[in-house]
Amino acid sequence: MYKKIPLAIASFVGLALSGLAGAADIHTKSISATCLSCHGPGGKSLGAIPSLAGLEKDYFVKAMKDFKSGARPSTIMKRHASGYTDAEFEAMGAYFAGLKK
Ligand code: HEC
Repeated sequence: MYKKIPLAIASFVGLALSGLAGAADIHTKSISATCLSCHGPGGKSLGAIPSLAGLEKDYFVKAMKDFKSGARPSTIMKRHASGYTDAEFEAMGAYFAGLKK
């Protein structure tokens, strides 16, 4: 069981570093891609659904946590938010914040 800890630390550091560099790891990119069918290519909305590109990271993370808990009412987002961890919200938030509006 202890063998897993260095790996967890390594992946966390990797995530933190990729966040600092402004580049998203492949996991973050692929989970974020599932959002774009509704939120528009590159996170830029084509219609009534809000854009994700350029959203402030803190705002994004709070929105996702609130959708997940139900604190923020939603039609569909509770279901999408429920599938992800707080760490994934952070990573996605950094990724979307870095996309051009
Ligand atoms: C089926 C379409 C659909 C998908 C897929 C989807 N969303 Fe949404 N999203 C919405 C709708 C509709 C809203 C408006 C709130 C509501 O009614 O649920 C919304 C709202 C949001 C908001 C709030 C934006 C703001 O400006 O306040 C965020 C953040 C968000 N979505 C993130 C995501 C993320 C991250 C994913 C992928 C994990 C995702 N969404 C996938 C439809 C979708």
